[in-house]
Amino acid sequence: MLVAAPAAVPLANAAALPLAGLTAWQAVFEHGQVAAGQRVLVNGAGGGVGGFVTQLAKYAGAEVIATAGARSTEAVRRQGADHVVDYTAMPVGAALDGPVDTLLNLVPLSSPDAAALAPLVRPGGRIVSIATPVEPAVDAGVTAMHMVARNDVAHLAALVELVDAGVVTIDISESRQLAALADVHRLSEAGRTRGKVIIIP
Ligand SMILES: NC(=O)c1ccc[n+]([C@@H]2O[C@H](COP(=O)([O-])OP(=O)(O)OC[C@H]3O[C@@H](n4cnc5c(N)ncnc54)[C@H](OP(=O)(O)O)[C@@H]3O)[C@@H](O)[C@H]2O)c1
Repeated sequence: MLVAAPAAVPLANAAALPLAGLTAWQAVFEHGQVAAGQRVLVNGAGGGVGGFVTQLAKYAGAEVIATAGARSTEAVRRQGADHVVDYTAMPVGAALDGPVDTLLNLVPLSSPDAAALAPLVRPGGRIVSIATPVEPAVDAGVTAMHMVARNDVAHLAALVELVDAGVVTIDISESRQLAALADVHRLSEAGRTRGKVIIIP
């Protein structure tokens, strides 16, 4: 499956788009059905997928509440988040003034942390997780799903168009040579990377 790369960014940076971008697109539009005026909670906005999720939810016209650590707060604000909650300082539920329409969970969670997120969604709302499933109570009236991204030429072409239009930016935290790949993997496994890391041959 092929889509022309965006012209507005270096070709190497475009490599950050397909997996993270398609995951974000499908979480926001297909499964989350995010629309103008909704309140959306993005849990894990500082990661590679999160950067696209925040921007696409804003593009859809939603109010975005995002969780991010100190190192990612500035990037997440730049991406358009209306409110940023430092998940290392407090549980996001303590910072919310009322339930959200949609929760998009982008991080692996312990069972207690996943259980604490579910009640933050209003009855009739939606939960989409790309990592640990977040299960609402059976009588909560909340639709919840766990999704796996798929290749989709139309979705990727739409993302490229938004990059070229300057609506979506690609949050590259660093570019490394191929020889550093193993180090980058180790850093990622240790939770020490953020945004997208580009590997250049
Ligand atoms: N289902 C699918 O199709 C699919 C597709 C792609 C990825 N995934 C999975 O989705 C997850 C996210 O992918 P990714 O590429 O975005 O990962 P990533 O870039 O490695 O995410 C790292 C970020 O997660 C944030 N984070 C870690 N713990 C957090 C917490 N408790 N609360 C809030 N934020 C937290 C950190 O943010 P700060 O910098 O703010 O601390 C960090 O920047 C991974 O588990 C990945 O395997 C699933």
